[in-house]
Amino acid sequence: MSNYPVDMSVTPEVKAFFDPDTNTISYVVKDPASAACAVIDSVMDIDYAAGRITYKHADKIISWITDNGLKLEWIIETHVHADHLSAAPYIQQKLGGKIGIGDKIMVVQNTFGKVFNEGTEFQRDGSQFDALFADGDTYKIGNLEAFTIYTPGHTPACMVHVMGNAAFVGDTLFMPDGGSARADFPGGDAGQLYDSIQKVLALPDEMRLFMCHDYGPNGRDIQWETTVAEEKAHNIHVGGGKTRADFIRFRTERDQQLAMPRLIIPSLQVNMRAGDIPTDKDGNPMLKVPVNKL
Ligand SMILES: [Fe+2]
Repeated sequence: MSNYPVDMSVTPEVKAFFDPDTNTISYVVKDPASAACAVIDSVMDIDYAAGRITYKHADKIISWITDNGLKLEWIIETHVHADHLSAAPYIQQKLGGKIGIGDKIMVVQNTFGKVFNEGTEFQRDGSQFDALFADGDTYKIGNLEAFTIYTPGHTPACMVHVMGNAAFVGDTLFMPDGGSARADFPGGDAGQLYDSIQKVLALPDEMRLFMCHDYGPNGRDIQWETTVAEEKAHNIHVGGGKTRADFIRFRTERDQQLAMPRLIIPSLQVNMRAGDIPTDKDGNPMLKVPVNKL
């Protein structure tokens, strides 16, 4: 980890917003030394059966930022989510800030541009986003320094964002009793996911880790915060010295039994466009359902 600018002396304030419809946790991260903040992994509400989009979850985040007099500088996506739609453009329109994601978004856009048979008007160069991060890139939230780590495996564009002693792990890891995310989406790879998890576990033991999802396994209450030390000791998929081969075998078998996420089809179309809803030839917001493509 010596190449990454880890600084455990800075403790950003982290406010979590749990979305019960998709089990996603969105965050507002505040610079302890200024009013600057970032939003991580926001959610736009969809009633998929009705094709209806609303912004209840995003409005809660927006109110919290305005009520506390904060200045939104960044809207970060840890990856192209397949289980919920991003509210990044809605939040940006209300509060400003730059939308950022990993630069491997181009790989994801290529893959799903084909799945959804997008025309040439769909750019596969990540230009829908304001910033594309490479491994080790840094950016600032007020005075708070953030850096990124490539963590492919769940998807090619997955990144962990580290700010002081807080790391936002996306779908690289779940809580210790939840294990890890699936690695069977197009572009996913169980071996890569194991290697990425090792990068997160190489951060300092006291690093606070914030999850993107929690499903409350075995009936426990929803949780989203743990530490590197806890994950190393107790994670049911990678903790306690499980080998790479063990992990690949387990993950591959498990993934074969998983159904597609309920919202994968609308999520990918929206999230690969930085949260914009695609439009038909007349400019009406419209989603497609490709048949037998996933
Ligand atoms: Fe995900």
